[in-house]
Amino acid sequence: MAERKALQRNEELIQKQYVYIDKVREITGEKANTEGRRPTYDVRVFGCQMNELESEQLAGMLDEMGFAKAAPGEQADVIVFDTCCVRENAEEKIYGHLGLLKPSPGEKKSIIAITGCMMQQPHVVEKIRKSYHHVGIVFGTHNLYTFPELLYRHLTQGKRVFDVWDSEGQIVEGTPITRAEKVKAWVSIMQGCNNFCSYCIVPYVRGRERSRKKEDIVDEVKRLAEAGYKEITLLGQNVNSYGNDLGKTDAFADLLYALNDIGGIERIRFTTSHPKDLSDSLITAIKELPKLCEHLHLPFQSGSTRILKEMNRKYTKEQYLALVDRVRGSIPDISFTTDIIVGFPGETEEDFEDTLDVVRKVRFDQAFTFLYSKRTGTRAAELENQVPEDVKKERFLRLVELQNSITAEINRTYEGKTVEVLVEGISRYNETMYTGRTRNYKLINFTSPEDLTGKLVQVKIIRAWPFWLEGTVIPEGETS
Ligand code: 5AD
Ligand code: SF4
Repeated sequence: MAERKALQRNEELIQKQYVYIDKVREITGEKANTEGRRPTYDVRVFGCQMNELESEQLAGMLDEMGFAKAAPGEQADVIVFDTCCVRENAEEKIYGHLGLLKPSPGEKKSIIAITGCMMQQPHVVEKIRKSYHHVGIVFGTHNLYTFPELLYRHLTQGKRVFDVWDSEGQIVEGTPITRAEKVKAWVSIMQGCNNFCSYCIVPYVRGRERSRKKEDIVDEVKRLAEAGYKEITLLGQNVNSYGNDLGKTDAFADLLYALNDIGGIERIRFTTSHPKDLSDSLITAIKELPKLCEHLHLPFQSGSTRILKEMNRKYTKEQYLALVDRVRGSIPDISFTTDIIVGFPGETEEDFEDTLDVVRKVRFDQAFTFLYSKRTGTRAAELENQVPEDVKKERFLRLVELQNSITAEINRTYEGKTVEVLVEGISRYNETMYTGRTRNYKLINFTSPEDLTGKLVQVKIIRAWPFWLEGTVIPEGETS
């Protein structure tokens, strides 16, 4: 069963959905009685961690409505796409998946619902309306929680349902959720973004910053601790501005202190941080709070001050490097990961050299590298001096090669060391191993004579691979 909890605020909005949940449950109950099995669902998620969290809410709603998760490979009765539009290739992937689901005569017809960032763009909704007739329900990010009502309408009226809200409302608490993991959980602390980086579609599809109330977040994390979760990752497009819309200053650090006191939670992470907003109080919190992990995901996007200005990032190359130094000065063993865009309009070879220079100087543990993708509606899409695809790709490869060599060098320094790992379960790389991460976010796959899922263990690293480290557990009581 999904976690089901209606909170005080927004009660009418969510209670209305619980009424629809019960109505759909009657329909699925009847179907289960006649067919001998509950109808099934499949939620397919694309994009960032916020989408992963929201796909857990979609699964939670479907569970509450009486559907069962489809077995791998089975075509479910209800298929929900939770989409991403941050780059063009994410959108193309989704059109590809949708195309494959067009039923031929005589084939099983699933109910196809589609939501997420991509649906907040009117031209996409029009394309779905005109060219993808097999899609039955279309809704957006601002009304994700109304899915039970939309599904009920579709089931009872048999017509296509389009309901995308063009502006954000308040954050609605109490949506059911079925989490994919048992040890670590995503916790959204805010929605939306006010930054309008010139390449980015997110502020247009996610709306302005809205923070959840501190007491709602604390309450959720306490319930997660009671359910046995050990690690939480706080999510927001820019967590460092958490609480600004509530008229508070330093609210993010304040929230972290409150969360650190919750018994049962062993580790706290957060993402994403904007360099312009990273406060000294946050650096102090990472240094002081035992549960707050020593890892910062700090996108720099470009090393060229000129391009950064065009991107509306509001910091220079030098300021970014100084910030990294300041953080390392306080927390020497902290690790950094980052996001980088290659080929922003007007990027010259010299600008790109600045990007490589930042990568060499900071020595990130990992970098997520992206080819610039023109997004309709953003300011950068209007710029004329787009970089040719072949130039972008050639720079991209050089950047990836440099970062991979740095990651490999950093990984090799772990060989022979012992690290603390929070065990998440069986490894995806190798079923004979367990998997987990260090506090500074290194991925570790290791052997262990027993299943220690959910425990903090000591692992001796025996070998560094390009993207993970291999180790063996040190039995409790023994030293390396
Ligand atoms: N093109 C390429 N990458 C982008 N990102 C955001 N918008 C674009 C775009 N138009 C990247 C940024 C951001 C990450 C989530 O996606 O690096 O940090
Ligand atoms: Fe996009 Fe910039 Fe907001 Fe991040 S901070 S979501 S890159 S506009």
